Amino acid sequence: MICRGCFSDALESVIDLGHQPLSNAYLTEQQLNEPEVTYPLHPYICTQCWLMQIDQYETPDNIFEDYAYFSSESQHWLNHCQQYVEQITQRFNIKNVLEVASNDGYMLQYFQQKGIDVQGIDPAANVAQVAIDKGIPTSIDFFGSDTNLGKYDLIIGNNVFAHVPDLYSFCDGLSISLANKGVVTLEFPYLAYLIKDRQFDTIYHEHFSYFSLRAVTTALMKHGLEVFDVEHLSTHGGSLRVYIGHEGAHTHSNRVAQLLAAEKAGGFYDLKLYRTFKEEVQRYKRVFLKRLSDFKDREYAKIYGGAAFNPKSVSIVAYGAPAKGNTLLNYCGVSTEYFDYCVDTTAYKQGKYLPGSHIPVYHPDRLMQTRPDLIYIQPWNWAKEITEKLSYAQEWDAKFLIRTRYV
Ligand code: TMP
Repeated sequence: MICRGCFSDALESVIDLGHQPLSNAYLTEQQLNEPEVTYPLHPYICTQCWLMQIDQYETPDNIFEDYAYFSSESQHWLNHCQQYVEQITQRFNIKNVLEVASNDGYMLQYFQQKGIDVQGIDPAANVAQVAIDKGIPTSIDFFGSDTNLGKYDLIIGNNVFAHVPDLYSFCDGLSISLANKGVVTLEFPYLAYLIKDRQFDTIYHEHFSYFSLRAVTTALMKHGLEVFDVEHLSTHGGSLRVYIGHEGAHTHSNRVAQLLAAEKAGGFYDLKLYRTFKEEVQRYKRVFLKRLSDFKDREYAKIYGGAAFNPKSVSIVAYGAPAKGNTLLNYCGVSTEYFDYCVDTTAYKQGKYLPGSHIPVYHPDRLMQTRPDLIYIQPWNWAKEITEKLSYAQEWDAKFLIRTRYV
């Protein structure tokens, strides 16, 4: 394996998360009777450019065929995008926009409303079709050096950079499609938050890369591109938004040099940090399993006054079926012995089973019908929005469990 950012072979193991199915490979009832394909889930860190990465076991074609993720599911995310559109159109003079991984048109719709020319590109045909039906021109394809859709003042890539197996071709595509004075903004979960908050569950096969700022700047450099500004975002557990231009095209903010210095001071260019992360993740698993067992058995005694191991134990269900939930459940080896079922608002996932754990997924209405004692919120990045939505569960005094860095 060589580094997909700088092509060095100086890769060191971070943590072996075991063999896992693709985390978006939700199963039908019939597929429960068939063999389930799993692949190693094992991040490595490059000690040259400090890009954390996993090897590519699946073809992107397979991952994005019948893709299960629709960006418009979250109102908070839509608000985030709308604010971005206001901010970017005030800061730069933008006549046309290309969005890479434009999904169901969640973002481009706001540019279109401002009369700006838009073009999307996304390989997931079922999702792209939703955008096309809304009137948003979308090319159903992967983005890279072969992309030939013209030159753009603004290119957006939100939560796509981590999904790119061929980083060289992607960065080349940015350079080719960007107008001379144009701007690329990329948003991606930031490695520093992943490590600090033990977000090992954001590691899954569709996420090939986990970026430090240094890794991003190294990958772009080969294509005459540079980061001229950077912002921290609270989205997806902590992200960066980087502003990229052709070399010398924009004035540099000193935030870029400051963040690179902070990475160095924070130990991100030192293997010790990644060794500690491994120990912490292994401990997380032990604590999580103990906590679930306590809820299932001892907490039962608290609620009903009965003895532990009484057959009528606490009912626990999972809210949300995000990819990261599957990494966590499968790494911890958790299934229906703890969770009766899972609910999710995405119609595509309802009636299916979570990959690996085989927990059934239903429409959220089922919560009202079965009144579970404990609701474990899997998409912790949407916890605020979800607990607000679930305020009706107070009716039967349900408790919530939300993932923290400790459990
Ligand atoms: P994500 O964390 O990768 O964005 O995935 C979030 C998942 O949670 C996705 O399957 C949609 C689901 N979801 C709900 O079921 N209800 C909600 O209110 C929200 C925000 C997400």
